[in-house]
Amino acid sequence: MKQLTIALIALTVMAAGCTSPVSKTSVEEVKTTPEYTGEAVNHEFAALPYAYDALEPYIDAQTMEIHYSLHHQGYYNNFLKAVEATGVQNASLEFIFENISTLSSAVKNNAGGYYNHSFFWSVLAPAGSGGEPSEALFEAINNAFGSLEGLKEKFNAAATGQFGSGWSWLVVQKDGTLAVTGSANQDNPLMDIAEVKGQPILAIDVWEHAYYLKYKNKRVDYVQNFWNIVNWNEVNRLYQEAL
Ligand SMILES: [Fe+2]
Repeated sequence: MKQLTIALIALTVMAAGCTSPVSKTSVEEVKTTPEYTGEAVNHEFAALPYAYDALEPYIDAQTMEIHYSLHHQGYYNNFLKAVEATGVQNASLEFIFENISTLSSAVKNNAGGYYNHSFFWSVLAPAGSGGEPSEALFEAINNAFGSLEGLKEKFNAAATGQFGSGWSWLVVQKDGTLAVTGSANQDNPLMDIAEVKGQPILAIDVWEHAYYLKYKNKRVDYVQNFWNIVNWNEVNRLYQEAL
């Protein structure tokens, strides 16, 4: 009984301590989103540039249909809702990403999901139709990774090593050199919070929704097969544009 009384007194003292006023000595830095002065953008949901079964056998038609018409469409719809009345609803995605740390996580996740998927579709093509790295891109790959195989190794390691959901990217950095980086969730290298920033020229989605129906838990096989359906023609174009 004596022990219980002591315990009750101790709890009362602790509770009283919790209700005493706490003085805050630090003030969090409040960032405001700068005004967007560029041309107003009407964000649209573009059609998939090929049929759902176009990337077979490496990505199956059912996965493509669910991925595009449910997941991607969902990110787009939720992006429009999240960005409404923020003042940047008609800003370019590039501007939004450059200032993402000033916006809500709902804008970050859904703007990322909207852009990342549009980008991903554009750098894929039916097997045998995507061409090859251009001479200029090939040279940049050799300089950065030693060889095309070196790039694949680094890119695949980022893709398979990404814990949980995310992406692996090949980007052109500010100085024009290439780098491989990974991102969690729907983050991307255009965001001001990215560890490695740059203009994306290739990416792979390693969320389970991108491969689970066909590959189950074998993300490694999905990542290796991805190289059969890279749209090098588009990657070459993006590389020249980024320089
Ligand atoms: Fe996805």
